[in-house]
Amino acid sequence: MGQRTQSQRTVLVAGATSATGIAIARALADQGFRVLAVGSDQQRLDERLNFVTARYQADLGDETQVEHLAQRIHADYGPIDALFHLVGGWRGGKGITGQSTEDYEYLHRSVMMTLRHTTKAFYQDLVDSPAGRLAIISSQAVATPMPSNANYGSVKASAEFWVQAVARAFSKQAPNAAAAIWVVKALTDQLPEHPGGPLSGYTHVESVAAAALALITADPATVNGRRQTLPGLE
Ligand SMILES: NC(=O)c1ccc[n+]([C@@H]2O[C@H](COP(=O)([O-])OP(=O)(O)OC[C@H]3O[C@@H](n4cnc5c(N)ncnc54)[C@H](OP(=O)(O)O)[C@@H]3O)[C@@H](O)[C@H]2O)c1
Repeated sequence: MGQRTQSQRTVLVAGATSATGIAIARALADQGFRVLAVGSDQQRLDERLNFVTARYQADLGDETQVEHLAQRIHADYGPIDALFHLVGGWRGGKGITGQSTEDYEYLHRSVMMTLRHTTKAFYQDLVDSPAGRLAIISSQAVATPMPSNANYGSVKASAEFWVQAVARAFSKQAPNAAAAIWVVKALTDQLPEHPGGPLSGYTHVESVAAAALALITADPATVNGRRQTLPGLE
């Protein structure tokens, strides 16, 4: 990342208390990055991420709270260099008529609005950084629409569109920045007992952490706007 040393580079993990968030935060902290973790619950943040530089409680679905979060982070540590957005959620239903509006609104807020709010609040940081980075984790479901996951796949497809729009903005405004989409079937922090078992095709959270480290050091021209399928377990 340009002239900044690694300890001066600030990475924000949004939705950090899941196994995936912890793995990414640990990998980046181990490499000397200044890692800031955000979640909706202070106690979970403190219990699970005591090794990061700072932990911030915020409801990322609330735009005002995200704006205040950005102000606090800027006052405490200055601009960020990378945003890993991990807030997800899952709702399914039986057939098209079983796709409830309540579930759709939950997914829209959890997946999409949290992404909109964080990318808007930190966009200028990523543009101004010597190597701004944004990543989300999407789902294979986007490419294989099913009636049972119509709500979920629609929202994840929206999130991908948003990130591609950010990537397009980066390509015009910030040649050193990159926005990427990682695709998985499912995530796990378990190791399979044998190949071909129930975890076959799942992506281990350590593979996501490795992708985060690779994205940070990659040539932005080769990764900006890339939709990359992460390796799954055998
Ligand atoms: N898990 C899978 O199998 C799978 C499959 C395909 C794609 N993905 C995608 O991969 C990404 C990571 O998955 P995941 O299962 O680790 O994510 P997740 O558990 O759904 O979300 C990550 C964390 O976000 C926090 N969070 C939820 N709502 C929040 C809010 N309003 N404000 C702030 N924080 C909030 C939660 O922690 P707190 O409650 O402690 O705040 C949660 O642990 C997601 O984008 C997901 O859609 C996951």
